[in-house]
Amino acid sequence: MNAVTMFFRATAAAAVLILAAADFARADHSPATQTEGQFESALVCKECHEDIYRNWRNSLHALSVSNPIFKTAYQRAYTETGGEAKKYCLRCHAPTVALTGEGVTCDFCHAVTKIDLAAKDHVFTVAPGKVKRSGLKNAVSPHHETRYSADFASSKLCAGCHAFVNRHGVQVGNTFAEWQKSPFAREGRQCQSCHMAEVPGKTANEGGRDTMHDHSLAHNLALMSDAVTAQIKKTAKSGKIMGVDVEVANIKAGHAIPTGTPRRKLVVEARSLDAHGNVIETKKAEYRKLIVNAEGEEISSDGDVFLNGARIMQDNRLAPGERRIEKFTFARRLDDVVSVAADVYFLYEPEVIQQIEMRIPFSGAQVNVR
Ligand code: HEC
Ligand code: HEC
Ligand code: HEC
Ligand code: HEC
Ligand code: HEC
Repeated sequence: MNAVTMFFRATAAAAVLILAAADFARADHSPATQTEGQFESALVCKECHEDIYRNWRNSLHALSVSNPIFKTAYQRAYTETGGEAKKYCLRCHAPTVALTGEGVTCDFCHAVTKIDLAAKDHVFTVAPGKVKRSGLKNAVSPHHETRYSADFASSKLCAGCHAFVNRHGVQVGNTFAEWQKSPFAREGRQCQSCHMAEVPGKTANEGGRDTMHDHSLAHNLALMSDAVTAQIKKTAKSGKIMGVDVEVANIKAGHAIPTGTPRRKLVVEARSLDAHGNVIETKKAEYRKLIVNAEGEEISSDGDVFLNGARIMQDNRLAPGERRIEKFTFARRLDDVVSVAADVYFLYEPEVIQQIEMRIPFSGAQVNVR
């Protein structure tokens, strides 16, 4: 099964976001040192960059402050910290919210002039206003000045937000560091090469070029269907037991799978089947990063991990390029087990909103054992 299927079983109960305008009077939650000008809304850019705007509009960057999972988590964090969370959470989820009310918006990224990964809370230097920067050369615009910047084709631009250590010093997520250690980094393949591919579309309505960089962050089918594979390498019968070796491999992700926030899992599932294809037994293995609170208890929401994660208990995720043998055993009565099947899928069950589950199947395998 290679198709991407997402089950959004039901929309979440309404969550009231504490985003009163007064909260944002101070722009002290920006991840950046700001040097000039004011941020503009994406709606301004939309006038001329319609294709890119439409592409971005439904992305998790555009929704990073308004999606129900974040809103619920943020609301809890906000209450728990007496408002402190707004500084902490919004610097990545909505760096310009004070001025634009938006999530990770156009004018934030395109105003970045300098990136200093050692500068923890102020990784980016931004100069919003008259000059817009990107990887294009010789761009001419009636609305703003343009400037080429090599940073736009570099993973460094993503690292400022896709690497996070919380206030207890726990590395909640670090996609950037995982990538740095991967074979892709050595080959010079940046985040953008997989997540912002060139696609048909105008860079600008008038005077633009005919291909643009994908801003949708869509789970790219071509990219992901065989990103992770499960293959049955060996089956062995011994008396009343059937042993099955499944090889799970992270082939195409430029970082661990799963990456990012720890509430995501990769599930390897093996099943024994009878002659009619009915499942006799199911066994599972889960790969994840498990973070606990100060009391050693598992934390059940992403927002809580950002805030209260105190220790990494376990991290058995698949590293980029890694192949791992997972051993399963099944009971068998004489010849009842006719075949075994194995699948691997990505599972995200955000606990704050129990109705929503996202499941993405990767490729699997089935073999006869009779
Ligand atoms: C009145 C039209 C107009 C508006 C409004 C506008 N742009 Fe542009 N922009 C253009 C055109 C035309 C180009 C050139 C495209 C090309 O050369 O392919 C361009 C180029 C760019 C580039 C490439 C710069 C480079 O040198 O690499 C960026 C980045 C950019 N715009 C961002 C923005 C952002 C962000 C906004 C909103 C805050 C915005 N633009 C608003 C017309 C506009
Ligand atoms: C200003 C901070 C910021 C920057 C810079 C940034 N991101 Fe993000 N990104 C986020 C946030 C916050 C989310 C999560 C939004 C949510 O789910 O609420 C996100 C989500 C994503 C996702 C979707 C994850 C998923 O679960 O499907 C991808 C892919 C992604 N970013 C890639 C990139 C890449 C590639 C770059 C660099 C070109 C980049 N990001 C730069 C903050 C940022
Ligand atoms: C060689 C290709 C490749 C590179 C390079 C790469 N990724 Fe990915 N990334 C993937 C694949 C494949 C997936 C899994 C399928 C999907 O979710 O689209 C993924 C998933 C993600 C997700 C979603 C995680 C989730 O569990 O939902 C984020 C966030 C992300 N990548 C960020 C980054 C960042 C940041 C970089 C650079 C530091 C990067 N990626 C580099 C291929 C790549
Ligand atoms: C997370 C940061 C980020 C956000 C948010 C973002 N961009 Fe970009 N944008 C990039 C990167 C990175 C590139 C260049 C990719 C490359 O060269 O590999 C780019 C390229 C561009 C270009 C040059 C043409 C092209 O496709 O290469 C334009 C114009 C542009 N973006 C406009 C916009 C507009 C308009 C929005 C909002 C609707 C937006 N961007 C939101 C990071 C971002
Ligand atoms: C250093 C940047 C950073 C900070 C600080 C940060 N986040 Fe995030 N957050 C991200 C990124 C990037 C993602 C999504 C991509 C991923 O999985 O890596 C994300 C994802 C999430 C998600 C999952 C959303 C979804 O759509 O699945 C929740 C919930 C969340 N963050 C809540 C919070 C809360 C609450 C805070 C403050 C207590 C916070 N975050 C602070 C960068 C950050």
